[in-house]
Amino acid sequence: MCGIVGAVASRNITPILVEGLKRLEYRGYDSCGVAVYDNGGLRRVRSTERVAVLEEQITRDHVAGFTGIAHTRWATHGAPVTRNAHPHFSGHASDGPSIALVHNGIIENHEELRKELQDAGYVFESQTDTEVIAHLVHHLYQGDLLDAVQQTVKRLHGAYAIAVFCRDEPHRIVAARQGSPLVIGRGKNENFLASDALALAGTTDQIIYLEDGDVADLQLGNVWIMDHEGKAVTRTIHTVHVHTGAADLGPYRHYMQKEIFEQPRAVGDTLEEIMSITPELFGDEAYKVFKQIDRVLILACGTSYYAGLTAKYWIESIAKIPVAVEIASEYRYRDSVPNADTLVVTISQSGETADTLAALKHARGLGMEQTLTICNVSTSAMVRECKLAFITRAGVEIGVASTKAFTTQLTALFMLTLALAQVHGQLTDEQETEHVKALRHLPSAISAVLALEPQIMAWSDRFAAKENALFLGRGMHYPIALEGALKLKEISYIHAEAYPAGELKHGPLALVTEQMPVVTIAPNDALLEKLKSNMQEVRARGGELYVFADAGTKIVSSEGVHVIRMPENYGPLSPILHTIPLQLLAYHTACSRGTDVDKPRNLAKSVTVE
Ligand code: M6R
Repeated sequence: MCGIVGAVASRNITPILVEGLKRLEYRGYDSCGVAVYDNGGLRRVRSTERVAVLEEQITRDHVAGFTGIAHTRWATHGAPVTRNAHPHFSGHASDGPSIALVHNGIIENHEELRKELQDAGYVFESQTDTEVIAHLVHHLYQGDLLDAVQQTVKRLHGAYAIAVFCRDEPHRIVAARQGSPLVIGRGKNENFLASDALALAGTTDQIIYLEDGDVADLQLGNVWIMDHEGKAVTRTIHTVHVHTGAADLGPYRHYMQKEIFEQPRAVGDTLEEIMSITPELFGDEAYKVFKQIDRVLILACGTSYYAGLTAKYWIESIAKIPVAVEIASEYRYRDSVPNADTLVVTISQSGETADTLAALKHARGLGMEQTLTICNVSTSAMVRECKLAFITRAGVEIGVASTKAFTTQLTALFMLTLALAQVHGQLTDEQETEHVKALRHLPSAISAVLALEPQIMAWSDRFAAKENALFLGRGMHYPIALEGALKLKEISYIHAEAYPAGELKHGPLALVTEQMPVVTIAPNDALLEKLKSNMQEVRARGGELYVFADAGTKIVSSEGVHVIRMPENYGPLSPILHTIPLQLLAYHTACSRGTDVDKPRNLAKSVTVE
């Protein structure tokens, strides 16, 4: 999704801006740009190519300056073409541009403002909502950029993070946030800003997280912050250590492949060598909160939502607490029946997903104050907004398709299940010991599944020629089938749907022909015989089965039935192990089709707009 970087310094800041954009690249974008103050005027370079191409243009055109802003854009209003790329300029035609601005988010009243500004004589060169803000700042500017931005934000409806600078005050950048993340990086006689601290790694580790409604005035020696009422406020400076090593591919072809193979380490780190389960793993107040609640509401999007669906099976069967799982973008807008004794759990890799944050605020607005997040980014808005938090230790995930974030979420959710069961008197010491033993064995069990890669690669060539696929699972493996289908469609662009296998005959069976590969998750569990009947229904219509079958299932290869044997049955943790081959299948199929695996078309890593 869109990224912002900015710098005010006494040295050439274009390398810092470009490096920051590179660090944000993995989030997905379709154009990028940089604007600097140079020799009394504003200069701008924009591109619909990769940041590396923008960098070549900057070098070729000798673009340099001591104040500047940069942006990666993921198109919302207007096509991904150069004239819509940020930074946007505003100024009088007679003396050239004087305002440069970048923006993340969506301005909902942009049409009304556009009309007003056109009536005032402004000519628009883009279709973006962002250009409206640039012209509004210019329109309101009377010699003080801070004042102009403070007046501007009062007119904006929607979500935004903006950074602006002005030709007439060259040692100053003014930034503001409402609903979209923005951080300030403090340096020695120089200051920076970015939509994520990751962009400033290597430049500064002194980070201030702006809050909604804040406006910040960055100058060389200081940063002043005003809250939504215009009152001067002090925000804490955090020392943030971002792992920059994540950007090294090592022996892997893609980040996604690297991240799939990092899962034994990521899950192991998330478990942190636990010896026993205590509610305090989720925060100091967790015991009190867990004791008080009698139901769970999980809010998430995409892959994180599927982690939530899996957790429903676990929590209801082990902790005996009723669970509702809601897609955040739906929940935030529907009428629901709140209950104050609910534990609201948000699940998010980034911790910045706009819909999940809004759903959390909505739940709190309905009086549900007991909140917990399972999140991969300790400094994210989600962690700051929730009473309790569990930080997964997946490390930075660069591939747009979530892999290690998902399996670490599942690991955390299983621990949450055990903690809830313990507090609600549903877990004996023996059961706890058994579950903890299984959890600790998980990293090596995942490694054993990863060793199936060559067999899965052999299947992927066949998949690459298909345009449709079905995924089947039953019980707690149904959400894993959903996740497998999402992975395949995200990165290989093959249309894939997942169903609980028992649903086949209620509709999707009509799609099954010899052309339809049907990927089946076959754990050795209580539903195995039912699943085998569903597989027969597929074979009877000529559909080809690709089965990941546990040892002991007695499912063997035959005509139209291809089987990869999973190393072991893993009881309640089986969904985690069955995720791995589906990730590898999607990955190698995408490689065979030659798609951009780490940056699939139209998608962004972190969806910070609605
Ligand atoms: O950062 P989050 O976990 O909140 O992101 C939620 C979804 O946007 C994300 O899981 C998305 O579905 C991934 N591209 C899936 O691979």
